[in-house]
Amino acid sequence: MKTILITGSSGLIGSEVCTYFGALGYTVHGLDNNQRAVFFGQGGDTRWNQHRLETTLRDYHHHEHDVRDRAAVLALVNSIRPSAIVHAAAQPSHDLAASIPFEDFDTNASGTLNLLEAARRFCPESPFVYMSTNKVYGDRPNSIKLIELETRWDYDDPAYASGIAEDLSIDRSTHSLFGASKVAADVMTQEYGRYFGMPTCCLRGGCLTGPNHSGVVLHGFLSYLIKCNVEGRDYCVFGYKGKQVRDNIHSFDVAAFIHAFVEAPRSGEVYNLGGGRDNSCSILEAFALVESRTGKAQRHKYSDVARVGDHICYYSDLARMKQHYPNWTITKNLGQTIDEIVASWDTRSSAQG
Ligand SMILES: NC(=O)c1ccc[n+]([C@@H]2O[C@H](COP(=O)([O-])OP(=O)(O)OC[C@H]3O[C@@H](n4cnc5c(N)ncnc54)[C@H](O)[C@@H]3O)[C@@H](O)[C@H]2O)c1
Repeated sequence: MKTILITGSSGLIGSEVCTYFGALGYTVHGLDNNQRAVFFGQGGDTRWNQHRLETTLRDYHHHEHDVRDRAAVLALVNSIRPSAIVHAAAQPSHDLAASIPFEDFDTNASGTLNLLEAARRFCPESPFVYMSTNKVYGDRPNSIKLIELETRWDYDDPAYASGIAEDLSIDRSTHSLFGASKVAADVMTQEYGRYFGMPTCCLRGGCLTGPNHSGVVLHGFLSYLIKCNVEGRDYCVFGYKGKQVRDNIHSFDVAAFIHAFVEAPRSGEVYNLGGGRDNSCSILEAFALVESRTGKAQRHKYSDVARVGDHICYYSDLARMKQHYPNWTITKNLGQTIDEIVASWDTRSSAQG
């Protein structure tokens, strides 16, 4: 019987991975303490998603622990000895980190170390997937020559025609405290692969999205933007004329890649994981895509002040993932992903009255 431990199981990625592996017949252990509601308030509450897993998965076990609780993490991994670990619990917001530096670092960096060390002690052969972020590159992508087009920025350098690859420097750039705590965890995950030979990988996510995100102003760009449209609220654009570009990948395709890695793990790997150029959009383009589906004009405000360390244009070069895992591919395009998120907010917003 195969078992998997998934941290951040009530969040966007964690819940999708629970569902994916549950459908494959795994016994699924989720760890989440609804910390997202502590970070972001009511809008970030993930209990609804935990209950969804508890009622829809056949063999799901929820553990109400905090990844910062070293003793609890060690005891849990010792008792389960999972055949794979997916670590998706995090303080995920770039902007929030500056106001809660200890909580951010303790969760992102120390929490990851707790899991890695637990894995080394009790299940060192089990694939370990860490959800990292493209913010490990800090604002380095902004030093690439850009061209301003009518609705977006784009790279004006043929070296980046397919996007950003894993060899971009993570050094000497502005990351935000969030980016720095994620770098610590990313490098530590690589080290447990390189130093101890464990099957670890870091997935440096672009915009990971999908219908089960509890999108809030400080995290979950596309989910929150669509929520604002559906509920008729203002969405605030921060700088760059709304032409800043993100690449969006559906959480299902993230889970499918994690499965591919678990089936054929490598050691100390790093992959840039996003929607790639084909699934990229600027904020202005996202407005138009959403409006065309809901029929509602996107209300918005504009602030000249860009977020510190924000990317002007970022899309992932997926070549390394595809080279190592040729059977993996993106199955959901941006239009389908937006359709699913719109449908989800229609249901959730009307249920909340
Ligand atoms: N969503 C994105 O666009 C994106 C982009 C790049 C990287 N990532 C990374 O992917 C991972 C998953 O992101 P997500 O969008 O699913 O986030 P999410 O906030 O939806 O899910 C994270 C879950 O972790 C839980 N959690 C947080 N702190 C915890 C703690 N101390 N102990 C136990 N549980 C805790 C939260 O309650 C939440 O349910 C994170 O590591 C994030 O940094 C996400």
